[in-house]
Amino acid sequence: EKAGFEHFMMKEIHEQPKAVSDTINSLVSDGRINLDNVGLSDEVIKNISQIYIVACGSAYHVGVTAQYVIEDLTRIPVRVEIASEFRYRKPLLDKNGLVIIISQSGETADSLAALREAKNLGVRTLGIVNVVGSSIAREADDVLYTLAGPEIAVATTKAYSAQLIACYALAIHFAKVREQIDDNEYKNLIDELLTLPDKISKVLDDKERIQWFASKFANAKDVFFIGRGIDYSISLEGSLKMKEISYIHSEAYAAGELKHGTISLIEDGTLVIGVLTQQDLYEKTLSNMVEVKSRGAYLMGITNYGNYNIEDTVDFTVYIPKTDKHFTASLAVVPLQLMGYYISVARGLDVDKPRNLAKSVTVE
Ligand code: F6R
Repeated sequence: EKAGFEHFMMKEIHEQPKAVSDTINSLVSDGRINLDNVGLSDEVIKNISQIYIVACGSAYHVGVTAQYVIEDLTRIPVRVEIASEFRYRKPLLDKNGLVIIISQSGETADSLAALREAKNLGVRTLGIVNVVGSSIAREADDVLYTLAGPEIAVATTKAYSAQLIACYALAIHFAKVREQIDDNEYKNLIDELLTLPDKISKVLDDKERIQWFASKFANAKDVFFIGRGIDYSISLEGSLKMKEISYIHSEAYAAGELKHGTISLIEDGTLVIGVLTQQDLYEKTLSNMVEVKSRGAYLMGITNYGNYNIEDTVDFTVYIPKTDKHFTASLAVVPLQLMGYYISVARGLDVDKPRNLAKSVTVE
């Protein structure tokens, strides 16, 4: 049942190209985004005043990425919130807003409660859900299904990747309907979306190098992940993967924020992983890498092919194929999933069933 892989998590990491392509294929036909099965009409889309994305854990991290992508492409203001916070803070929601709940299981108690809260307030809801017929799928006004298939490992990988695709498709479609992008940009974005499965496979080809590097950090005490913009959102997910399966303390920081306190934790040999896929922020984050290096950090970088001068600063680099700047999370997350996985394996831990965690969190 693990199809020759040692763990479900590794199997599911390798199923990402398929999860992504199945999800894309369900949303794109004849070169256009088709949301007929989802239900949001053009009229509804044109009237959206504000988007609220609400989720937990990794699904929340998808929301953080989606906030950057949707705002940039559609110019609709997006707010992203942790479900257990949203539900208790008496949220002030605009009546023309759209609440998007992202959930693999569709059963997460806080996400479901947030959905009900939004409905009580009379705001339209959209669920991005993987499990067909789950509570969130049944109760949301509209549902966009991710087609990641069943996910067994507690730590999410392929469902996260499919959720990103769902958000990209919404962003592209909303941008087109609201005339924020022209036919040419629309076509280019969709063409690029279709290349992501192959590019994810390409990143997976680097896994042995990553395994070699990860095995050196089996005894790390702390790991820091830094990035700016979308790269910050990827850092959040990399850090969660690290702590949940390898039990190593880790934190994700917006790169520019480190110097406001946290940099005092950097010691000789502390691993700092920089995510540098946003070309316009590359030099800024690189200068933060230089700063931590001068305090003794050991550096890993994830960046686009072509940014070879990173090697002047960084000890170990993983290059990802070039893609549209909005889609880099889909590629850069893969080496981070592999880092968490290989460190967990090197420490002899139960990768698929980490302590204290359940696959579906149905308690509050
Ligand atoms: C982390 C992980 C969790 C889930 C979170 C939400 O690897 O899997 O953080 O993302 O519990 O679960 P769903 O998406 O089922 O609502």
